[in-house]
Amino acid sequence: MKLLIISLALCTCNMAIPIEPSTTSLLELLNNSGFSELKEALVKHNMTNIINASEPMTIFAPSNEAFKNLKQNPWTKNMTHAMMEKLLGRLVVLRRKLLPADVRNEMIVDTVSNEKLRLNVYPKVRTVNGIMVVMEPNVQNQQVIIYRLNRFPMAPPPGRDIFEMLNRRKERFSTLVRAIEVANLKDTLKTGGPYTLFAPNNEAFKALPEARLAKLMESPAELKSILLGHVINGTYFLGALLESPELPALSSGLNKIAVNGMNVTVNGTKVFTREGMIAENGAIHVIDRVLLPSNTTAPPSV
Ligand SMILES: *[C@@H]1O[C@H](CO)[C@@H](O)[C@H](O)[C@H]1NC(C)=O
Ligand SMILES: *[C@@H]1O[C@H](CO)[C@@H](O)[C@H](O)[C@H]1NC(C)=O
Ligand SMILES: *[C@@H]1O[C@H](CO)[C@@H](O)[C@H](O)[C@H]1NC(C)=O
Ligand SMILES: *[C@@H]1O[C@H](CO)[C@@H](O)[C@H](O)[C@H]1NC(C)=O
Ligand SMILES: *[C@@H]1O[C@H](CO)[C@@H](O)[C@H](O)[C@H]1NC(C)=O
Ligand SMILES: *[C@@H]1O[C@H](CO)[C@@H](O)[C@H](O)[C@H]1NC(C)=O
Ligand SMILES: *[C@@H]1O[C@H](CO)[C@@H](O)[C@H](O)[C@H]1NC(C)=O
Ligand SMILES: *[C@@H]1O[C@H](CO)[C@@H](O)[C@H](O)[C@H]1NC(C)=O
Repeated sequence: MKLLIISLALCTCNMAIPIEPSTTSLLELLNNSGFSELKEALVKHNMTNIINASEPMTIFAPSNEAFKNLKQNPWTKNMTHAMMEKLLGRLVVLRRKLLPADVRNEMIVDTVSNEKLRLNVYPKVRTVNGIMVVMEPNVQNQQVIIYRLNRFPMAPPPGRDIFEMLNRRKERFSTLVRAIEVANLKDTLKTGGPYTLFAPNNEAFKALPEARLAKLMESPAELKSILLGHVINGTYFLGALLESPELPALSSGLNKIAVNGMNVTVNGTKVFTREGMIAENGAIHVIDRVLLPSNTTAPPSV
């Protein structure tokens, strides 16, 4: 009922708004700046009205290549209209022309899709929800600034904090979830942060001697200190790992990040770079060994 009223209200005010010539020029600007796929998608999904305002705006524009990949990827090639609306809405920040100099590390901005984007500034790269963003050169007119992305940013559904992301994937992280609860770190990972968690999957815990795991599960304090060795203060997506030789863990040690091409390891343990996740309060990287302080120098098991 409420929804219906809202949508009726939207229709009414849409009709009341005079046609803005600026929309055409913004669409033209997108098209002429090499974002013709984005322009077409906005038209196709009836979303030109969102860029119809004569207000400041920031657009994170996926390249035509990104659209091509989206259409070829078996997971995303036949997205519904509603899904596309969300994906496109996520790219647009209203009422704000965010200049490169305005961007701060861990800045959160609201988007048309009601999802949030997390902006990160690292020494060499900047990211939007973990996707590298090209800040310069950008395209702009008086009101609007357009930044180029080479991929579509994902966004966590509302309420998916780091703990909840794991809790929703019990088939892979049930032991970690239990360990977090035993160590009394659930609240930290739900409401603290932003953090980066190196998340050992169930195989990682299975690789521990059974008696050791059983004992750990009965030693909240030890478990807590071990788990905090997996948590980094701040959001480090893959792009950031690639340029961070070491990261401070909450347990106060420095985790060593080694990079060889796209093979990334943390203290010698392989990071599953294709399985990274974004949570409302940070990033999650999957690993298949538990990082134990006394065993960190051992070579990765093959
Ligand atoms: C701008 O919005 C108005 C009102 O919603 C609409 O009639 C018009 O077609 C829009 N312009 C474009 C180019 O989409
Ligand atoms: C969009 O841009 C291409 C060049 O990239 C141009 O050929 C085409 O005419 C443009 N379309 C519109 C509607 O402006
Ligand atoms: C876009 O709007 C037009 C008319 O306003 C409608 O005919 C068309 O089905 C809409 N397209 C989508 C994808 O909803
Ligand atoms: C999605 O694509 C597959 C082919 O890859 C097709 O068989 C299926 O019908 C499509 N589903 C929808 C909802 O369009
Ligand atoms: C995390 O970093 C922020 C910003 O640098 C700092 O204010 C905060 O105290 C740090 N938290 C922990 C637990 O180290
Ligand atoms: C990355 O790891 C794979 C095996 O996981 C290996 O085959 C490949 O050679 C490694 N690449 C580099 C650059 O070390
Ligand atoms: C990772 O290795 C460093 C030393 O290289 C150590 O200080 C740190 O405690 C280790 N982290 C964990 C979680 O074991
Ligand atoms: C270190 O690893 C070895 C096997 O690689 C294992 O036997 C030992 O229990 C581990 N040490 C700790 C403290 O977990």
